[in-house]
Amino acid sequence: MKKQRKNAWDANLYDQEHDFVAQYGTDVVELLAPKKGEIILDLGCGTGYLTEAIAETGAEVLGIDSAQSMITEAEKNYPKLNFKVIDGEKLPFNEQFDAVFSNAALHWMKNAEAVVTGIWRSLKPQGRFVAEFGGKGNIETIVKAIDLALEKTEYTDNITLNPWYFPSIGEYTGLLEKQGFEVRLAMLFDRPTSLKDTETGLQNWLRMFANPFFKDIPEEKILDILSAIEQETRPQLYRDNTWLADYRRLRIIALKKP
Ligand code: BEZ
Repeated sequence: MKKQRKNAWDANLYDQEHDFVAQYGTDVVELLAPKKGEIILDLGCGTGYLTEAIAETGAEVLGIDSAQSMITEAEKNYPKLNFKVIDGEKLPFNEQFDAVFSNAALHWMKNAEAVVTGIWRSLKPQGRFVAEFGGKGNIETIVKAIDLALEKTEYTDNITLNPWYFPSIGEYTGLLEKQGFEVRLAMLFDRPTSLKDTETGLQNWLRMFANPFFKDIPEEKILDILSAIEQETRPQLYRDNTWLADYRRLRIIALKKP
């Protein structure tokens, strides 16, 4: 996943152009180590690639995402699996799952406290929460360049539309512990990520993921802003004909120890 996708997502484009999200996620499925017969929630499942990877282990899995377009695509991709449109900030479950899994989704859910509470409620006693998402410093070069480009226009206020939550280890483990979780792993690490399509890779990425910043801006002005962002970030992020986004991941394993 991926945003707590309150903006409209093009699920096809997402699958075609940004499949690295799911590819990297297979490591997180390994960390989850699903077992046959377990009941697992895939929070922010996007188009379902990792939901399927979890199901292949023999676990029973429910994939949820706030974007109808993603769930429609997931159902098309994996018709035998269960998917539902559900907002991660309003999880309706009660002690149903052996594990809650989430890859590249939680950074779209700004009300992290509500998410953590919902995950806690969703888990059976002794259940585990295994997640990876953007942590403090994630895409810092890109975010600074977006802010700078917007500051130079009459759309400076759009900076406040930043849709992302990238917490530090301290901040996030604090939230988990406050909720009652026992944190077993918290790790922040760089994962420079190559964006496809060489020259247009960053612009495509911005169009897909950063569109909330461009709300109500006319198309011709968006083009100027995208060019300004490219120009600003190129010295740090463009190498050997490829854009390399400065991703930084936060990995978490936490247990519900009643
Ligand atoms: C991420 O996976 O870190 C990410 C993806 C899109 C926008 C922001 C962050």
